[in-house]
Amino acid sequence: MAILDKHKILETNATLLLIFSFLVVTIGGIVQITPLFYLENTIEKVEGMRPYTPLEMAGREIYIREGCYVCHSQMIRPMRDEVERYGHYSLAAESMYDHPFQWGSKRTGPDLARVGGRYSDEWHVDHLRDPQAVVPESVMPKYGYLENKKIDGKYIGDIMATNALVGTPYTEEMIENAQADFRAQADPDSDYDGLLERYGDKVNVRNFDGQPGVSEADAMIAYLQMLGTLVDFSTFTPVASR
Ligand code: HEC
Repeated sequence: MAILDKHKILETNATLLLIFSFLVVTIGGIVQITPLFYLENTIEKVEGMRPYTPLEMAGREIYIREGCYVCHSQMIRPMRDEVERYGHYSLAAESMYDHPFQWGSKRTGPDLARVGGRYSDEWHVDHLRDPQAVVPESVMPKYGYLENKKIDGKYIGDIMATNALVGTPYTEEMIENAQADFRAQADPDSDYDGLLERYGDKVNVRNFDGQPGVSEADAMIAYLQMLGTLVDFSTFTPVASR
């Protein structure tokens, strides 16, 4: 009974109750948060992950500018219907270089986390230009103006430098060569050895929009075509089941 009596003192004294509640919440908070400071990394490292190339980064910027995330998520949840429709559930590591991440929860259109390689470049050009010409019942707006707007990629080095500040492993060399790599990726006739050296030989080098010069559509399609393709899931085993 004694303990109940003491508890009654707490329950009938608002100030005391407040102080003790605060204490309890603080202890709980510390217990949860402190370990995070001692973990080197909360994200499991996964083979194949690399930072975005300059052209993909430009595409990502346009994706954000156009608000594509308002209708599209980029996170496949570990549930059977999602995995059967979209492919392997998304790993935390797959968005480790996304600042800000594009997970989202609103799906007016399908999830795009693994849209890379699902369609041809021409499909994307047609679809961006006029979604209803490809999928008649689509409610996606037309983005044909992207292919008419040429871009020079001058600003990409700065965006990469900013990403490097928050931990994306862009080297000085990558940042210095940003504009050259940006142009090279959209031009298969260029000398793109440096680009592949810096970002790996799986990088797609193509004239994505099929027109001369680099347009916003080139950048957008380069970005869409690499989404979810970096990790090879035929060889991937999660740490928990190794
Ligand atoms: C108003 C909502 C809306 C917006 C905004 C939107 N989309 Fe869509 N998107 C859709 C819908 C609905 C579909 C499914 C029908 C279709 O394929 O057009 C779709 C389909 C797609 C697909 C095909 C996905 C698949 O797996 O079949 C891609 C790629 C895509 N959108 C890219 C984009 C990009 C890039 C942007 C921004 C420039 C964008 N969308 C903006 C609604 C939207």
